[in-house]
Amino acid sequence: MDAFGAVIFARALTVGLRRGMFESLARRPLSLRDLSGETGLSTEGVRLLADACVAGGYLNYRKGMYSAGAEARKWLVRSSETYLGDLIFYFDSLNTRLGGLEYSLEHGKPREPYYASFTDRDWETYVRGMANLARLLMPEVTRRIRLPASGGRILDLGGSHGLYSLECCRKFPGCTAVVMDFAPALRCAGDIREKESGNRISFSPGDFLTAPLPAGQDAVFMFNILHGFDEETNRNLIARASGSLRRGGRLYILDQMTGTGRRSLLSRFIPLMVGLNLMNEIGGSAHSVPLIREWCADAATFRVMPLRFPGVTLIEATDWSSGVNSQ
Ligand SMILES: C[S@@+](CC[C@H](N)C(=O)[O-])C[C@H]1O[C@@H](n2cnc3c(N)ncnc32)[C@H](O)[C@@H]1O
Repeated sequence: MDAFGAVIFARALTVGLRRGMFESLARRPLSLRDLSGETGLSTEGVRLLADACVAGGYLNYRKGMYSAGAEARKWLVRSSETYLGDLIFYFDSLNTRLGGLEYSLEHGKPREPYYASFTDRDWETYVRGMANLARLLMPEVTRRIRLPASGGRILDLGGSHGLYSLECCRKFPGCTAVVMDFAPALRCAGDIREKESGNRISFSPGDFLTAPLPAGQDAVFMFNILHGFDEETNRNLIARASGSLRRGGRLYILDQMTGTGRRSLLSRFIPLMVGLNLMNEIGGSAHSVPLIREWCADAATFRVMPLRFPGVTLIEATDWSSGVNSQ
């Protein structure tokens, strides 16, 4: 029944979002008839959908009227700071590629990586989904980032929407950042970029596995990157990233990691769902904290900071003994 609920309820939430059901019900309670009118769904269709959302804990039903519950207002209404609707649209888009999961698990990678067939629209869905999650995690993550008092230079590998860099530049007035990602991902960051007025963030299109990385960085971010690659690629990538740090600079890794010792069901489950999905998307996996520690063997200091969000961990690795640029 886990499987049944996962397949159907995910799509039901997506339809509810697409038809504006949660927005309508957050404005005011509605009867079934009015809800049918506002969503354009049949009366019987919207009844099933709304009742499923009542049973799922998102809507309330009282005296013939439906209304948005606290969970819907928190996660599914765009004006909420913790809105995750775009992330749900991204989850829904995984359906088209999950047909290949069996092949990917057999071969350790998909027939072709997701970005080989991505349209501009797919990129937008992806970047917006990631931005939802980043907004949620950002306060907790940026609170733990340590930069020089004067600001410092950040290299944000696979930084996509650029929100983490944007927030650091807001918090540290002298800070500058380079966000490196594939060109189509950076194009989608346009509306987010407009919020940055001081020109302290630059966007650098390129493949961070092969492109030269700028030297002398105070911090390199690798947020939700390692789960996209296999062991060897990550080992090399971490060596490249640490090589672009100045002496005393810090590498920050944010990911859904296994082996954190956290016991909640979600903390153990979510990294593995991410791993399965990433193997299917790009040949990635869910990596453990001890394995990442091994990849960072040249760092004398390795701090592991589990976040409140289930399954997500931030690592700070510093005092690199080799490959570190002293600029
Ligand atoms: C899961 S998203 C993470 C986005 C952002 N760092 C965050 O945490 O919200 C991974 C990002 O890495 C980018 N990426 C993956 N492989 C890359 C590569 N070889 N070169 C540049 N960017 C890459 C993807 O395009 C995507 O934007």
